[in-house]
Amino acid sequence: MENTFPQDFVFGTATASYQIEGAVNEDGRCPSIWDTFSHTPGATLAGDTGDVATDSYHRWREDLALLKDLGVDAYRFSIAMPRIMPTPNGVVNDKGLDFYERIVDALLESGIKPVVTLYHWDLPQYLGDEGGWLNRKTAYALADYTSVVAKRLGDRIDTWTTLNEPWCSSYLSYGAKEHAPGLGLGPGAFPAVHHLNLAHGLMVQAVRAELGESAKCSVTLNLALNRGDADACHRLDLISNRAFLDPMLRGRYPDELFAITKGICDWSFVQPGDLEQIHQPIDVLGINYYSTNLLAMSDRPQFPQSTEASTAPGASDVDWLPTEGPHTDMGWNIDPDGLHDLLVRVHDNYPEVPLMVTENGMACKDQLVVNDDGSKSVHDADRIDYLQRHLVAARRAMSEGVPLTGYFVWSLLDNFEWYFGYAKRFGITYVDYATQERIPKDSFLWYRNFIASRA
Ligand code: BGC
Ligand code: BGC
Repeated sequence: MENTFPQDFVFGTATASYQIEGAVNEDGRCPSIWDTFSHTPGATLAGDTGDVATDSYHRWREDLALLKDLGVDAYRFSIAMPRIMPTPNGVVNDKGLDFYERIVDALLESGIKPVVTLYHWDLPQYLGDEGGWLNRKTAYALADYTSVVAKRLGDRIDTWTTLNEPWCSSYLSYGAKEHAPGLGLGPGAFPAVHHLNLAHGLMVQAVRAELGESAKCSVTLNLALNRGDADACHRLDLISNRAFLDPMLRGRYPDELFAITKGICDWSFVQPGDLEQIHQPIDVLGINYYSTNLLAMSDRPQFPQSTEASTAPGASDVDWLPTEGPHTDMGWNIDPDGLHDLLVRVHDNYPEVPLMVTENGMACKDQLVVNDDGSKSVHDADRIDYLQRHLVAARRAMSEGVPLTGYFVWSLLDNFEWYFGYAKRFGITYVDYATQERIPKDSFLWYRNFIASRA
């Protein structure tokens, strides 16, 4: 049936460690590049940091109660390397592992599958001090950390996701200045792209070395669905999508990527044997989808570089055009067909791998309402509409043969939205940051019904 999801389809919600945990100085955690960045004056929009966030390090039981109430099949969360390996000498911090073990066990007791992201951007600062992702050693450090986590949490994890959105960890972080460490190097981001790809391959191997071939491995990419001029779209596809997809799933970088970056990058950091390391079979590909881009070829190079242009070195002759509204509170356009089109395209080009939507959701200007009886509500009809239309689009792709196995709403609760701090709310649960009270929004209640009926 067109609008019914199969019984084994996985519905969930997602979060990430630095965005929710807080407790940055507790139980032996070391600083991450996001602590340093968010504490740098002017780096985030209003100077917000993740010091407290939603305090989930202390309130994780409340969050778990929300998940149970929601009736999700799975919870996607990330593990913070700074809690597990807080020093450069490789000593393991058991308190960090204990924290995640408690969460995993509690999830399993509630019948919720743990879908773990091993790296969602909170790189230990000691690795940042050595160049972070510009340094190839970072990839090996991530693999060592992966072995430690796999050894401890082992068979209890449903899906091991190596990286979340390496596009952000490279272009947005080293090419542009929006994410930590915010270096603004333009084409200087390509070594980070490659070292993240290498980390992915090494991390998959580390998981399988501990747990055997049956361990379910994945990576989450924020693939761009571009519309507009065909040449411009082709260029962006090479830089934003295929620079990750092709090495991971095909074992090579596209020749055309080398061609369009000739003169700005010699790719000499790609060492013999790297592509074999990167090219590991994965069991499912995670896709994060929010909106689409509208592109044109420009007759003038984009100087000074916009954030968009600095995240696409090799496409200085591409223009980002304003998209048609309505837009979300992030200013992102709403294009559910884009999710359908993206899923169909990825499946056409990489038919061997099942897909999962690991993030989809919307930032809204949510208003907390205190009702006459003292109860509180948030009437986020726009978010419900957004989620519903994207689910319909995903279901349509499935009817056309796309092997989509799951869908996760970003996010379980409002949280630290990176550069934008607490100014943007993506949650289906409202967080009152003054009290840390959690208030399920209408979208939470809607999603609960949706999951229960799967239709
Ligand atoms: C935003 C980030 C976001 C990313 C998602 C960027 O444009 O600034 O905050 O995480 O897109 O793809
Ligand atoms: C990231 C999340 C982020 C969300 C909204 C994704 O890029 O994985 O961490 O909060 O988009 O920007």
